[in-house]
Amino acid sequence: MISAVLPTYNRAPLSFERGEGAWLYAEDGRRYLDLGAGIAVNALGHANPALTEALTAQAGKVWHLSNLYRIPEQERLAEMLVDRTFADTVFFTNSGTEAAELAVKMARRYWYDHGRPDRTRILTFEGAFHGRSSAAIAAAGSEKMTKGFGPLLPGFTQLAWGDQEALEKVIREPDVGAVMIEPIQGEGGIRTLPDACLKELRALCDETGALLILDEVQCGIGRTGRLFAHEWAGVTPDIMMVAKGIGGGFPLGAVLATEKVGSVMTVGTHGSTYGGNPLGCAVGAAVMGIVSDEGFLAEVRRKAGLFRQGLEGLVASRPDVFEGVRGTGLMLGLKTKVAPADFVKAGYDAGILTVPAADNVVRLLPPLNIPDEDIAEALRRLDQAASSLKAA
Ligand SMILES: Cc1ncc(COP(=O)(O)O)c(C=O)c1O
Repeated sequence: MISAVLPTYNRAPLSFERGEGAWLYAEDGRRYLDLGAGIAVNALGHANPALTEALTAQAGKVWHLSNLYRIPEQERLAEMLVDRTFADTVFFTNSGTEAAELAVKMARRYWYDHGRPDRTRILTFEGAFHGRSSAAIAAAGSEKMTKGFGPLLPGFTQLAWGDQEALEKVIREPDVGAVMIEPIQGEGGIRTLPDACLKELRALCDETGALLILDEVQCGIGRTGRLFAHEWAGVTPDIMMVAKGIGGGFPLGAVLATEKVGSVMTVGTHGSTYGGNPLGCAVGAAVMGIVSDEGFLAEVRRKAGLFRQGLEGLVASRPDVFEGVRGTGLMLGLKTKVAPADFVKAGYDAGILTVPAADNVVRLLPPLNIPDEDIAEALRRLDQAASSLKAA
């Protein structure tokens, strides 16, 4: 008999009743060090007092207002994002998938409005993950995500990750309107686009007119030690998708855009009942107030250095289990010689939560404010998990 909850997830037999900082407490009282953070969502840890205060203060005023009216919390968060980024304008969503939907619509509308309705094709990359809507699965294109869900939304071409030659050729084809890419692939296995490649991609987009859409749903909001990952390369996109960390655990996403591109989305072209609601935006503003501070970001980089150094040592001491460490900031991956799912499972026994990804990688995405002593404890528990495994 089918379960009451549609069985689309492969769930671990764990159930937590509360969280605090980087720790989750199970119903049996056991505590687990959370290096998944809800897959890069709980950017400031569980039950963060500042976020709880922002949420409850807003909850006592007004929860929901239709976008028929002005929403001051939404305007405030949009201004914070505009102040700190390339963007001139922001649309709020409830998730990363919805941000992907709007990014695709915006790119296509841009070319429609600029007299080139044929420039509908969007280049994406093998291993990409942009969500589970019809547009997002067509964008990713993998059989795993698309099988049985056709006909797929047309107009996406997947290129091999790192195949600069193919990119340079295909981007010049006349129907290409945009390129959509994660600066660091999350689900794809913590695969970082080198800064030089992102710069080159920006130059190719400038040359051909193709819009550059960056998906910073997983790598944004301080995760890499910069507010957004693309800042490392010193280039900016035309459109950017944000979600996960921006709500610190409250469902919130956003599409950021330049005025040139965003101005094609006029009244009636897009909308959302809940997107930009006062509760989400009040929490988002509290998150942004903390993570956009340069001192906070410097701390993320310092903690990341500490963690990475420990992980390099762990990899060196367990060559039968690990192949290497990858990633930037606190978006880290351990390439394993065992099946990532087996390592994640061994982690449960050692009281540590990690997240499997493609490319034989286990993701480590701790809260950005994880205390140094929890990093030390994480290294001990990861070592314990590794010691319980034998090479496959
Ligand atoms: C890079 C990226 N884009 C988009 C999404 C989809 O976001 P959501 O699950 O909030 O719809 C995800 C989620 O994992 C993601 O990692």
